[in-house]
Amino acid sequence: MAFARFLSLLSVITLSLFLLASNASSRSLSTPHETTVLNVVSSLQQTQHILSIDPTTTTRPEFESKSIPFFLNASSPLTLELHSRDTLLASHHKDYKSLVLSRLERDSSRVAGIAAKVRFSVEGVDRSDLKPVYNDETMYNPEELTTPVVSGASQGSGEYFSRIGVGTPAKEMYMVLDTGSDVNWLQCKPCADCYEQSDPVFDPAESSTYKPLTCAAPQCASLEVSTCRSNKCLYQVSYGDGSFTVGEYATDTVTFGDSGKVNDVALGCGHDNEGLFMGAAGLLGLGGGALSMTNQINATSFSYCLVDRDSGNSSILDFNSVQISDGDATAPLLRNKKIDTFYYVGLSGFSVGGEKVEIPSSVFEVDDATGDGGVILDCGTAVTRLQTEAYNSLRDAFVKLAKDFKNATSSISLFDTCYDFSSMSSVNVPAVAFQFTGGKSIDLPAKNYLIPIDDAGTFCFAFAPTSSELSIIGNVQQQGTRITYDLENNLIGLSANQC
Ligand SMILES: *[C@@H]1O[C@H](CO)[C@@H](O)[C@H](O)[C@H]1NC(C)=O
Ligand SMILES: *[C@@H]1O[C@H](CO)[C@@H](O)[C@H](O)[C@H]1NC(C)=O
Ligand SMILES: *[C@@H]1O[C@H](CO)[C@@H](O)[C@H](O)[C@H]1NC(C)=O
Ligand SMILES: *[C@@H]1O[C@H](CO)[C@@H](O)[C@H](O)[C@H]1NC(C)=O
Repeated sequence: MAFARFLSLLSVITLSLFLLASNASSRSLSTPHETTVLNVVSSLQQTQHILSIDPTTTTRPEFESKSIPFFLNASSPLTLELHSRDTLLASHHKDYKSLVLSRLERDSSRVAGIAAKVRFSVEGVDRSDLKPVYNDETMYNPEELTTPVVSGASQGSGEYFSRIGVGTPAKEMYMVLDTGSDVNWLQCKPCADCYEQSDPVFDPAESSTYKPLTCAAPQCASLEVSTCRSNKCLYQVSYGDGSFTVGEYATDTVTFGDSGKVNDVALGCGHDNEGLFMGAAGLLGLGGGALSMTNQINATSFSYCLVDRDSGNSSILDFNSVQISDGDATAPLLRNKKIDTFYYVGLSGFSVGGEKVEIPSSVFEVDDATGDGGVILDCGTAVTRLQTEAYNSLRDAFVKLAKDFKNATSSISLFDTCYDFSSMSSVNVPAVAFQFTGGKSIDLPAKNYLIPIDDAGTFCFAFAPTSSELSIIGNVQQQGTRITYDLENNLIGLSANQC
């Protein structure tokens, strides 16, 4: 066994040397297609590791007592630590496969929520008649939207979290980071309905800087769904899959670790919160709309690197410090006139094994007239979704070059292309790259498209088809790459291995 591993390792080394040598000389002498190495052993080790992480021992940085050096002024850099969901929430999963299946189930509800949101905007559904309902006994009831409330237990669209401080004195709490929504909110006392969160629920009465917004406040007018009660602005945010938060729209001071704090950030103080976001205290909207954290702090850029979700590591979210260097891949950052929340990216296609995959580029374009289609970058979606036709072309190109791999028997959840690598320690797999309009491309590390779905060595090709016209680049494909949203220059920067 050990000897077999040694032999396969040796063959990888030999092949890598061969590839290095052949790259330097002539393509025609090299292997018929470009490959990259998938480290099977390391991926499988992480499947064990992630289940062994005990969130109760995760260190929670305390910054309440530290003196904060400055208040934000134009373009001050702000920094937050970024954690993945599975390092913060206790795992109820008996094995890695059950963890993956629950992630994929969450992922489907996330994608359904995004599709619903786009549909509302594209079809111009008027939601101005939707009002949060406020009963006299401090009870908030949401207006019924489109779907029933789903059980919170297995749901939660938050995949990455940061710890911020809210109020004065600052109370630290974990917030979901979401590039796919705008309104910031957190659970607040008194709770008509609060789900379980890992930090104490925020009590506005204990913050000297908490101020409810009046109905005339411009922030109140920017809300999609709001109503006025005793001259206080009430908000409601629904996530398309039946989950929602309702409460008082207010402002308070937000502290970004020890990098700075911002006064008067508008956020929802949610007294009735149902459906999603188990574990976190609330959500930071990083979207492109007026009420997002990004816009409220006038950020000229933000940048994150999503750590491998199974590594248990953390990374950094930065505002106002552009990190694009000359060698980095870049892509146009595009906007959809019909909806300002999402960050669209100019994708032209893919290459597999170094060869361009034949996909009409119109598949990835936003239709300016209708607002349909396009490709968004989203940190809350896990698996990249492509229109079925594009997905089929990409998968077929991969399958063709991967024909010697041992097929795993059936399709699993979202995935229809899976391999059995259980007898291998590493394997050379066809290279996959994103190609962007503007000519740049980025090679994906093998572990960003062949992911373990159990601890026994079954790996699946981690792209999936969608019946929606919107394609989504998900966090599995973004892992390990620092992604910079340069909002001033409408540019996305992607630098590999910059976590
Ligand atoms: C602006 O922020 C910088 C830190 O980025 C700080 O040194 C400076 O004092 C601030 N200026 C004002 C006027 O607050
Ligand atoms: C953002 O810009 C607006 C308009 O220029 C300004 O009123 C506001 O104070 C700025 N916010 C911050 C946090 O700098
Ligand atoms: C996680 O962090 C450790 C220690 O900093 C490092 O050795 C390891 O390579 C990291 N793992 C990943 C997957 O980034
Ligand atoms: C695996 O399945 C693909 C597609 O069905 C097929 O082309 C390939 O030959 C199979 N590989 C092996 C080793 O049987």
